[in-house]
Amino acid sequence: MPLINSAAEFREYILDFAFTEDESSVCRRGQKLTICEDAAEEEVRSTVVTSSAVNAEIPVYTNEFWTSRQRAASRLHEISYRACFKPQLPGFFINLLTDMGERVYDPFTGRGTTIIEAALLGRNVVSNDISPLSRLICEPRLYPPSVSEIKERVDSIPYDYSLSPDIDLSMFYDEKTASEIMSLKSYLDGRKNSGDEDHTDRWIRMVATNRLTGHSPGFFSVYTLPPNQAVLPERQVIINEKRGQSPEYRDTRKLIIKKSVSLLKDIDKDKLSFLTSAGDNAVFLNADAAKTRLIEDGSISLTVTSPPFLDIVNYRDDNWLRCWFNSLDAEAIGREITMARTAAEWASCMQDVFHELFRITKPGGWVAFEVGEVRNGKIRLDDYIVPAGITAGLECAGVLINEQNFTKTSNIWGVSNKKRGTNTNRIVVFRKS
Ligand SMILES: C[S@@+](CC[C@H](N)C(=O)[O-])C[C@H]1O[C@@H](n2cnc3c(N)ncnc32)[C@H](O)[C@@H]1O
Repeated sequence: MPLINSAAEFREYILDFAFTEDESSVCRRGQKLTICEDAAEEEVRSTVVTSSAVNAEIPVYTNEFWTSRQRAASRLHEISYRACFKPQLPGFFINLLTDMGERVYDPFTGRGTTIIEAALLGRNVVSNDISPLSRLICEPRLYPPSVSEIKERVDSIPYDYSLSPDIDLSMFYDEKTASEIMSLKSYLDGRKNSGDEDHTDRWIRMVATNRLTGHSPGFFSVYTLPPNQAVLPERQVIINEKRGQSPEYRDTRKLIIKKSVSLLKDIDKDKLSFLTSAGDNAVFLNADAAKTRLIEDGSISLTVTSPPFLDIVNYRDDNWLRCWFNSLDAEAIGREITMARTAAEWASCMQDVFHELFRITKPGGWVAFEVGEVRNGKIRLDDYIVPAGITAGLECAGVLINEQNFTKTSNIWGVSNKKRGTNTNRIVVFRKS
């Protein structure tokens, strides 16, 4: 029997919110709350806003509900992706609102933060993303091979130094590294096309995709932007000129093993068994989030998701190199991705998504929908999401604002200064009665 069975119970729980003494398990079901010493500082700030669009009063709760005080997330999450959320965000709702074995869904999976966190917590998973890249970087983590299996496989891939990429990548890679990347690409394509691709191949594909470009020698490329956004070749030429740099050889085998070791660092027997069990029951879809007909009516206990925010992130441009490596058509994928220029256009797309979420959510199930503040906070997307959910038939339990204050160190021309910053997530929570 779930701890929280109604929107009213959810609100009560959130108002009484405080960290437990071990600071990690505040929202584990059925656990007695022991309030930690400085709980006074943690008080939930609560207000009510009226959504004129649907004439409803919506409670808004602000606090540091997760992040810095909680146990560090699993290293398995560390595959970078634009606009991904921290694992503690889905973790909070999964622990609070679902039981082991229940189905957790993300219609905009991205790198799979919700999916991997749900699997690590012993839930079953349903994943969807319009980009096939999402599945390539999420699913392999449900079946992690051992480091020795990865090493043995990587060592067995034939590297042919006469190969060179079919597009000019000389601004990113030296000749030898480029040949190694081409060898990996043709090996992985061959295995896939012949139907021989296995979990270890898929793992290597995911890690190599993640290592393609980045801002340290841990990546295959010369110094460039962080790995979640590949710059276009013209721009990399300018970066190289400005920094007076040219690509040097990178040992791709060594880097794949190194990253694999890091991803697998905290995966013990129990986590492995949760992951593979979720993997065996997982559903991966590659559809528009508003048209997921393969998901049965009333089959999802909880959705935790964050949609593309207006046209802030250009997933096509960010992922052109990852698509090339995986023989995917970046242009065609880009055309399908929701890119709304105005909030009204965006709200209309999200309305369709909410009708679909209502259909697939089981009675008593939940939707936690993360939205950002865009255009410097001038547009608050929750103002659009509350009516979209209510119009679809869901009850709005409230808006949770997770405010995390942190000290960020910026280093400008060698001078370090510490500034206070705020990380804010706004999550609209709905229940299907
Ligand atoms: C903000 S990201 C999600 C990030 C995710 N929460 C994570 O932690 O990785 C939004 C995702 O929505 C996907 N997307 C864009 N339009 C879509 C659509 N119409 N249907 C399904 N997925 C879509 C993009 O490919 C992108 O992966």
